[in-house]
Order: sequence, then structure tokens, then C-alpha cells
Amino acid sequence: MDSPVINMPEIILSDETLKQVEALAKQTTPDEALWISGYFAGWARSKLATSNATRHASSLESVNNTNDSEKPSLCILYGTETGNSFDLAEKLTAILRDEGYVVSCSDIDDFKIQRLKKEKYVLMITSTHGDGDPPETAKTFFEAIAGRKAPNLEHLQYAVLGLGDLSYEYFCEAAKYIDKRFSELGAKSLIERVDCDVDYDEAAGKWIEGITLKLKELIATEETTNKTTIYNTGQNEPVEDVSTQEFDKRHPFEAEVIESIKITGNGSTKHISHIEVSLEGSGLSYLPGDALGVIPVNASSNVDDILTALNLTGEEHVNDDSKTLRESLLYDYDITTLTSRFLEAWYGLSKAESLKEFLPTQERALLFEYASRNHIVDVIQKYPVSSIDPLEFLKGLRKLQPRLYSIASSQDMLVDEAHITVSKVEYQLHQRDRHGVASFHLCSQLEPGQTVPVYIQKNNNFRLPEDTKTPIIMIGAGTGIAPYRAFLQHRETSDIKSGTTWLFFGERNFRTDFLYQTEWQRWLRDGYLDRISLAFSRDGKEKVYVQHRLIEEGKDVFKWLEKGACIYVCGDASYMAKDVDKALLTIIQNEGQMSAERANEYLKILSQQKRYRKDVY
Ligand SMILES: Cc1cc2nc3c(=O)[nH]c(=O)nc-3n(C[C@H](O)[C@H](O)[C@H](O)COP(=O)(O)OP(=O)(O)OC[C@H]3O[C@@H](n4cnc5c(N)ncnc54)[C@H](O)[C@@H]3O)c2cc1C
Ligand SMILES: Cc1cc2nc3c(=O)[nH]c(=O)nc-3n(C[C@H](O)[C@H](O)[C@H](O)COP(=O)(O)O)c2cc1C
Repeated sequence: MDSPVINMPEIILSDETLKQVEALAKQTTPDEALWISGYFAGWARSKLATSNATRHASSLESVNNTNDSEKPSLCILYGTETGNSFDLAEKLTAILRDEGYVVSCSDIDDFKIQRLKKEKYVLMITSTHGDGDPPETAKTFFEAIAGRKAPNLEHLQYAVLGLGDLSYEYFCEAAKYIDKRFSELGAKSLIERVDCDVDYDEAAGKWIEGITLKLKELIATEETTNKTTIYNTGQNEPVEDVSTQEFDKRHPFEAEVIESIKITGNGSTKHISHIEVSLEGSGLSYLPGDALGVIPVNASSNVDDILTALNLTGEEHVNDDSKTLRESLLYDYDITTLTSRFLEAWYGLSKAESLKEFLPTQERALLFEYASRNHIVDVIQKYPVSSIDPLEFLKGLRKLQPRLYSIASSQDMLVDEAHITVSKVEYQLHQRDRHGVASFHLCSQLEPGQTVPVYIQKNNNFRLPEDTKTPIIMIGAGTGIAPYRAFLQHRETSDIKSGTTWLFFGERNFRTDFLYQTEWQRWLRDGYLDRISLAFSRDGKEKVYVQHRLIEEGKDVFKWLEKGACIYVCGDASYMAKDVDKALLTIIQNEGQMSAERANEYLKILSQQKRYRKDVY
């Protein structure tokens, strides 16, 4: 087996130390290497803890000198994938700092669980992803808090805000878990947890108000009962401002569509479009790995169907008379997804007994199953209500949400353009064609010259390695290929050929579905891409997916990992990402001759080192 190549800035290691480390690496097995890395990590942590303690002591001094109100220090933690929890954490941090608190705010990913022992107040905001899972970057924290070594938290008071989507079976599961686990570990809840649906502004705003009020009460009590000094954690850095751009989710930029082309060939079972928009004049900037947020519009045929079923014209005025019902249904509300909120509201209006079993008090699995077979319009048609007040109807709906699309271009190359790769969601329910709101709008309605409101959603968890020599393995199925096009455009613009790059791409048929085929071939020819492995599932007798190709190439994949490669996975979260995970574990076990447990540990360490990165949906 090759020994690992150590790419290390010289300033960190002297020549002599580097030689010693390389010599040691040559003699060790992967199991030994894992043990050694753990040993050194532990050693470094204990050293850092000592120097941090010194730093914290000096910051405590300065706080005590300047902050005589003795307000407690608060620790805000957020777990996020698509930025919403981060936005709220940033907002909460600003509010509480304005109130005079010493606030630290960090991504759960950067927070070591043992630090909980030092915190007195923790305010946690976390979303839920996958099927009721914590956000990808928060998984290590969740595993640690679930484990036997989780710290006793009897000294701690906490509050949890959950972000989720009521249309998922396991609603806000991650937040519910943290709440339960903190309580099991002895922590006391400051205020009741709030679980927010996708239009979270109001509910989250109330939670923020609640927590601010509760903290005021606590301080009043603390000030009158005892004058205990509350220590600063020394983590009072300003929250990183990543939203320096003028346009964002709430103030999107009207981007002109430059190009919209269907890139799956004739006869394909899928409709995938390549869409180019102009960001000229917006000042918006993005990096490879970021996503484009798109504000969608409902299809007018869907609005017509709803109005007909309600027996309304759409000309009725709503929202303080500023809009017609039709406009509101087109632009403001989710008029398709069936949620417990809508069923409860419709039960109230229709009194239909059959809807009782789907009320929030009933078993969620039943509702979830019913919602997967019906849209809002199906319920209105089946359980009609005569002479409905439009405002009463709107109360049951939630706000239409932006959709994210991985950016498939590099701004270094294309300056004022952003490209996306959109798969049109199409299916049938009750013998009628249905389609996804945004993907239909993008693929079938928008034409060059028209505009679409957009913003940039940063994704710091899906970045190219800083060291351009680090090998990268990019795994993607379907539209999961999009960010890799951005990666390679970026490398082409900077003429980076030194890294070793390997693409695993999967789709249904070679002839119709090899997305951006000529570009990959050109990058292979020109040396920006070194290797490509393709899996077209419907071309042969047996279904072959990217995970099968990975296993076939297991020996080399493992060699690349041992050489320090970063692995990227993008695309389907439900199946592909899980199967790739299993394939990687098999490879590590077989090629590294490790037990299943060691292989798990190996992959976990890759994640912790940010060498195993996922952007899955
Ligand atoms: C970080 C991130 C990056 C992404 N990047 C991309 C990308 O590069 N390209 C891309 O195409 N997408 C991407 N997506 C997904 C994208 O954001 C949208 O979710 C997707 O386009 C569907 O949105 P829609 O509005 O068209 O569909 P919606 O109106 O949201 O409808 C989708 C819903 O339709 C229902 N549905 C679908 N099929 C069926 C069926 N057979 N039977 C019953 N119900 C069904 C399901 O409830 C599903 O949730 C990304 C998502 C994230 C979070
Ligand atoms: C791929 C995917 C899976 C999701 N799974 C769940 C889920 O299982 N349960 C839930 O309540 N919400 C789920 N959500 C909704 C998110 O939690 C919600 O959009 C939240 O606002 C995201 O917050 P964040 O940007 O901080 O990650 C999912 C969202 C995506 C994109």
C-alpha cells in the first residue's frame, strides 16, 4: 500500500519533523494511523485548552471591567444545511447583544460537546434534514450527545427552536431530539420548544421574543437574590457576516434568463434543463459549491383549478385589498402540498368526518401517507364547501418557499452569469398530470428575456480544498453533477491541473442523459479531469449505479483516500447518498482491512476533517 502523501505548509512543520512524520507514515497500517491521529488530536486539544484558558481569563477580565450589569453570557448554537437556522441565529445574536449580553454564536459543527460543561445558557436553533435527521454538519454533535459519554447538564438552562417542514413525516425531529436529550442529561428548559414549518418567520419571531423576555426575568431574579458573576466564555467574536450582498432571500434580484435548454436528449425519460441567468448589476457573488435560490410562481392552471373548486373568481381582494385572490394564489402561497395545517383548517370549514383521522392529534403516519397521494385541490374537490370566505381559505395555507439549485458555473469564468441544472418534477395523481412548482416554472414557462427573482445561498460546507494539489473524488447522480461543472470551470479558469480529479456520474441512459458530456470530454482531454467513471442504470440488463462503480474501483478509491483525497457527494438524499455511504464503508473495510467499526470511524474522521462532503436533497 502507498503511504500517505503529506501536504503541509512548511511553516507548520520543520523539514526534520516532516521527515520523521513521513517515515512513521511508511511503517504504519491504516488502523495504526487512525489511532495515532486520535492520539495527536487529543494531545493538541489539551495543549490548546491550556492556552485558551489563558486567553479566556484575559477576556473575562475585560468584560468584568466594562460590563457591570453582569448580564449572563449566552451560547447560541445553530445546525443548518440551507442557511435558515444560521440566519435566525445571526438575528438572535444581534438582538441579544443589543440587550447587552455577552453572546457567542457558533455552528454546531465547530462546537465541542465538552464545552457544554462550561456554558450556563444554551440557545439552540436546528433544522431537520434527510428523513428526520440532523443537518449533515451537526451529526457529530448529535452522535456525541446521544452517547454514554455525554456530559451531565444539570448546571445548564436551554431553549430549542426547530426548523422543519410539516410535509415531512418526521417533523422537526432533530430539534425534538435535542430538547429530549438535554432534559435527560439534567438541563432545564428556559421556554417551551417551538417547531416551525417552512414559513417560520412569525413562529421564530415569537420564540425570540419569548427567550428575550425570559432572560430579562432571570436576570432580575439573579440580581435580587445573589450577585454571582457570570463568566464570559471568551467566544464573543462578531458573527461572521456572510450576507454582505444587497440582494437576499427577502430581497431577491430580478435576474434575466439568458438561456434555457433541455439537455436530456429526445426519448429520455427525464426532462432536465440547463438554465443561465444574468446577475449583471446585482453585485451578487458566489463560489463553486453555492446554490442559487429561486422564488417560484405557481402554475396558473393550478390556480384556476383551486378557484373553480372553491367557486370563487379570483378577483376577490385580499391582503388589505392590495392584491386579488388570484395574485395571492399565484405568488404568495403553497397551493399544492397537503399539510396538517391545511387539513385542520379544511376540516373546520367542511366538517367532513373523514378528515378527522388526519388532524394533528392523530397518528402522523396516516396523514403523511394521505398527503403523498393528494394535493390541496383534491381535498377541496372531494369535500366541497359552499360560499367560502377567501381569507378563511388562505389561513390554512403556508407561504410559498424559495427553491435552491446548485450553481453549475464558476463566476471566475462567467463573471455575471449563474447556471443551474434543473430536473422537471412530473408525476400523476388521480389520473392527472402533476408537476413541481419551481421546476415546472423554470423548465417549461420561463423563456430567455424574461426575469426570475433569485439570490445566492452560500454553502461553506461544499468547497474545493484550499490546497489545489489535494485529489478530489466527485460523486453525483442526475442533477448532482451541477456543482462539479462549477468546480471544473473554476479550475480551468485558474489553469489548475496539479490536483487529481475523478468524477463518478450516474443517470439512466448514456445516449440521452449524459449531462454536459462534451464538457467532461474536453476537460479529460485538456487535463483538468483525470478520471471518469460512468453508471447508466437503464442501459444494461442489470441496474448499475454510482455506488456499484465505486465498489468496482474500490482499490483505487481507497488509494486516493489514503493520499488525502476529498470526497464530494451531490444529488439524491433518499437513496443515492445512503448507498454511496455504504459503498465507501465496504471499500474502506475491504481495502483497508478494517473491521466495520474501524471503517465507520475512518469515514467519520473524513467528515470531521471536512474531506467527506455532501450536498444532497
Ligand atoms: C441545497 C439544494 C440544492 C439543490 N439543487 C438542485 C439542482 O441542482 N437541480 C435540481 O433539479 N434540484 C435541486 N434541488 C431540489 C430543488 O430545490 C427542488 O426541491 C426541486 O426542483 C423540486 O421543486 P419543485 O418546486 O419543482 O417541486 P415541488 O412543488 O416542491 O414538488 C415536489 C414534491 O412533489 C411531490 N412528488 C414528487 N414526485 C411525486 C410522486 N411521484 N407522487 C406523489 N408526489 C410526488 C413530493 O411531495 C415532492 O416533495 C436542490 C435542493 C437543495 C436543498
Ligand atoms: C432534503 C431535505 C430534507 C428535509 N427533511 C426534513 C425532515 O425530515 N423533517 C422536517 O421537519 N423538515 C425537513 N426538511 C425541511 C428543512 O428542515 C427546512 O427547510 C428548514 O427550514 C431548513 O433549515 P436550514 O436552512 O437551517 O437547514 C428537509 C429539507 C430538505 C431540503
